[in-house]
Amino acid sequence: MKTSVNIGIVGLGRLGKRHAENLASRVPGAKLVAAVSPVPSEREWAQTNLGLTSIYDSLEALLSHPDLDAVWLVTPTSLHAEQIEIVLKAGKHVFCEKPLSLDLNTCDRVLSLAQDHPNQVAMIGFMRRFDAGYAAAKSRLSEGKLGTLYRIHCESHDPIDPDGFFVKFAPTSGGIFLDCCIHDIDLVRWMVDGSKPVRVFANGTRTQYPGLAACNDVDTANATVEFENGVLASFFVSRTSYRGYEATMDLTGTEGALRVGRNLQAVPLIEENNQQQHVSGLPDFFARFNDAFLIEAKAFVDTILTGKKSPLTLEDAREAAKIAIAMRDALESGQVINLN
Ligand code: NAI
Repeated sequence: MKTSVNIGIVGLGRLGKRHAENLASRVPGAKLVAAVSPVPSEREWAQTNLGLTSIYDSLEALLSHPDLDAVWLVTPTSLHAEQIEIVLKAGKHVFCEKPLSLDLNTCDRVLSLAQDHPNQVAMIGFMRRFDAGYAAAKSRLSEGKLGTLYRIHCESHDPIDPDGFFVKFAPTSGGIFLDCCIHDIDLVRWMVDGSKPVRVFANGTRTQYPGLAACNDVDTANATVEFENGVLASFFVSRTSYRGYEATMDLTGTEGALRVGRNLQAVPLIEENNQQQHVSGLPDFFARFNDAFLIEAKAFVDTILTGKKSPLTLEDAREAAKIAIAMRDALESGQVINLN
């Protein structure tokens, strides 16, 4: 039986570098054998920081690497679907960052191709499922500790970014629902055991980044989703947090409630001066979900090595995209979107 998985990573940007460092030394069973970037400085970074000798400038070149088992895609969202298809056709397992695609027809095309490759793992990176807090909430729910679940409220706050990174990133990211809220959408689907969404409404505003108007995006938004099993879910998502990065979820049932992600500070220190208390917030999603990224990578490797069912399927990614697209449509039209 195989005991390790040879992985090539594609994309060494903001998140790709973090995944690469994890895969290079922190994930049991993972062997990072190659990396890809079209950008020379990123290839140099890989050579210096990962100690790799096999560094390519395209996915196609990577696929000829000897004994490659899997490809790990951390590329721009607009490339995900097509690159997953290329990897599956080459006979390799594939991990890809979220979202699968900004378009449902494209999601369906990838799902259909994946069905022709049933022995290859294809997983999308909804790493929050591997966070200790969200995973514990899911366990409590499954044990029936909340009675009947009827209400979920999620919040995702990105810190204010003085450089306006979001404005540059927004035209290709799919907007606040497909890029950011999609994590909470996936979690809610997981908590409601895949119950079907029935109606969706959303609204939003631009408070800090007027440049988002060019692509019809907002920096602060609310959305509501009613599920077939009666659960009412609400989502608040913003790029405008003064207190740093935060991701929380409150679940309420007939016999109790759970709160995920509260009271997490980067520094366990309260600084006091001038009759004020200062508590440090988390700087970014890496600080909040560092362990989840690692456990996610381990789950991908274990799925390949054991042949067990993947904890996250392309179908999950497709259904999350469907809800996010409905939220975007509701925001743009001002109408309730019926999904039946
Ligand atoms: P980025 O722009 O910093 O990095 C993109 C990387 O892809 C760069 O290394 C670039 O050189 C490479 N690239 C571009 N075109 C390529 C091509 N044709 N072939 C191969 N490589 C190519 O973007 P970032 O922030 O790292 O995001 C990447 C993906 O990760 C996005 O889809 C984003 O949605 C997702 N993401 C997920 C997060 C999560 O919480 N799970 C958080 C941040 C990003």
